[in-house]
Amino acid sequence: MSPSQTAPETHVTAPSWVSHEGLKRWVTDMARLVKPDRVVWCDGSVEEYDRLCAGLVDGGTFMRLNDRLRPNSYLARSHPSDVARMEDRTFICSADKADAGPTNNWMDPGEMRGTLNRLFEGCMRGRTMYVVPFSMGPIGSHIAQIGVEISDSAYVVVNMRIMTRMGRAVAEWLGDDGDFVPCVHSVGAPLAPGAKDVPWPCNDKEKWIVHFPETREIWSFGSGYGGNALLGKKCLALRIASVMARDEGWLAEHMLILGVESPSGEKSYVTAAFPSACGKTNFAMLIPPASFNGWKVTTIGEDIAWLKPGQDGRFYAINPEAGFFGVAPGTSEKTNPNAMKSLHANVIFTNVALTPEGDVWWEDMTGEPPARLIDWQGKEWTPGCGRPAAHPNARFTVAASQCPSMDPKWEDPGGVPISAFIFGGRRSATIPLVVEARNWEEGVYMAATLGSETTAAITGKVGVVRRDPMAMIAFCGYHIGDYFSHWLRMGTAVHHAPRIYRVNWFRKDADGRFAWPGFSENMRVLSWIVGRCHGRANAVPTPLGLVPQYEDLTWTGLEHFTRQQYDGLESVDTEAWRSELQSHDELLSKLGTKLPGVLESQRQKLHAELSA
Ligand code: GTP
Ligand code: SPV
Ligand code: MN
Repeated sequence: MSPSQTAPETHVTAPSWVSHEGLKRWVTDMARLVKPDRVVWCDGSVEEYDRLCAGLVDGGTFMRLNDRLRPNSYLARSHPSDVARMEDRTFICSADKADAGPTNNWMDPGEMRGTLNRLFEGCMRGRTMYVVPFSMGPIGSHIAQIGVEISDSAYVVVNMRIMTRMGRAVAEWLGDDGDFVPCVHSVGAPLAPGAKDVPWPCNDKEKWIVHFPETREIWSFGSGYGGNALLGKKCLALRIASVMARDEGWLAEHMLILGVESPSGEKSYVTAAFPSACGKTNFAMLIPPASFNGWKVTTIGEDIAWLKPGQDGRFYAINPEAGFFGVAPGTSEKTNPNAMKSLHANVIFTNVALTPEGDVWWEDMTGEPPARLIDWQGKEWTPGCGRPAAHPNARFTVAASQCPSMDPKWEDPGGVPISAFIFGGRRSATIPLVVEARNWEEGVYMAATLGSETTAAITGKVGVVRRDPMAMIAFCGYHIGDYFSHWLRMGTAVHHAPRIYRVNWFRKDADGRFAWPGFSENMRVLSWIVGRCHGRANAVPTPLGLVPQYEDLTWTGLEHFTRQQYDGLESVDTEAWRSELQSHDELLSKLGTKLPGVLESQRQKLHAELSA
């Protein structure tokens, strides 16, 4: 860490390991705009991390957990107005409004720059401006990208150190003239001279998460939470990267990546796109049921995948991240033992509950809740008090390297070859357990019309079904119709296009309970998918696509799950599908002339087949 005292009008001195004049100039310009008390270039060292964490403890943002129970770990409680991504405050400011499309908020870039200049002018007064060089992807990978985030939040810096490769090594790799994505972040809460800071500074009047796709810039104001503030994640690795991917012929997706090894040692890799808080982390770390003797699942990533066509005509995928910013509630030894093991030490918890012993707790972490807790807002909590102990979008930040299921190739700069794309939503009705697309075009239609019930990962109403194309509704940085065309094109950019599947772990029975046991039992679907990719498993045609019959899945160890129950999961309710198709039509009609003809034909085919 190299601090330098700066009067706003003076030049910011950079450490010797920064040789990029453009970067230095940009940092100086930003310091002049935001007027911090001091500028600190982050080197990414352990000492720096420890020092910043100690400072966060002193300032009341962090509480250090019991070192015997949860070594080297911290709890942060955010402001109650700053607990999740805010899609209504997220903007794509393309030069032409039409390029943002019907699914993004847009503002004229010139007008937005005016707004941002007003907001950022002096916004870091009384604070430190941290400069955080980071790499999305293994440093030096041909698929990786570099960003530099400027932030006035030490909480952001320590999270970025876990979530990305960060610091001196990145600045050195950037060299004299490498490309980087400038990312400007402020909590939007300048401190008057002598004023005391609050534990979670943010701006409760104004929040803006802004992207300029043409100039590949990110500006975020007012929030310190998750994807609003850790700008490498959704802002760079999805919204800006999706634009790069469109222009350069690759894919930036909201997908986990996992490896499956069969008892014979056959190794396959698949990706799966599920919307926020719909099971990516769980699926990526799946432990097969005991009856799947000799099968092994390994993790490459649990939130984002970047995929490039390789020389051999297959897609190669990397995980651009280095850590997990995972949903805490629901995570337990039963549902996700690998995540629980990852969380043994060196974790930042945000908005979970605190036990009297100084450890953490959240809903469904254990069967029995503790007799008393301090909830995520710092209030006394007892079971049955009527409030959740942890916020439903409480999260843990932890290094991927701590997860026992990481694949030996998870940091391979060349990526791993992908055999299948899986798309899934949270749907209590209508959508069957698993369907295989008969071809690329049908698969792209399935993915484009994906629907899911909203979750606590975003602010707003929970449990409302909405269309979430490719689980990217909030993350595609350009017109969604152009994105569909890009997907259709990418099917021909490789010789062996992966097969495409749609799954639904969340269908409910007549009593309102999940009809599918899920979690490790999802292995039964995964092994069928892998079997299909290797030409082993059977499927039968239906109007929706190819589906396994009861006898096509392995039931050893789950014999009590009846054929009747299974048929219920795969059943097609014609009435429900009529309104499902209506909802597809509503989405596609928003695309106007940008609706690819291929998707229109798929739409008509599905209408015809379902009414036949
Ligand atoms: P983001 O990090 O927000 O992008 O989400 P994610 O997709 O990684 O979410 P995560 O895996 O953390 O999802 C957590 C939620 O999904 C919890 O409510 C889990 O209980 C639920 N979940 C995960 N897998 C299953 C499953 O197989 N069946 C059921 N019923 N619920 C599941
Ligand atoms: C999501 O909402 O999909 C997340 C969490 O992965 S955040 O990083 O906050 O966007
Ligand atoms: Mn996500």
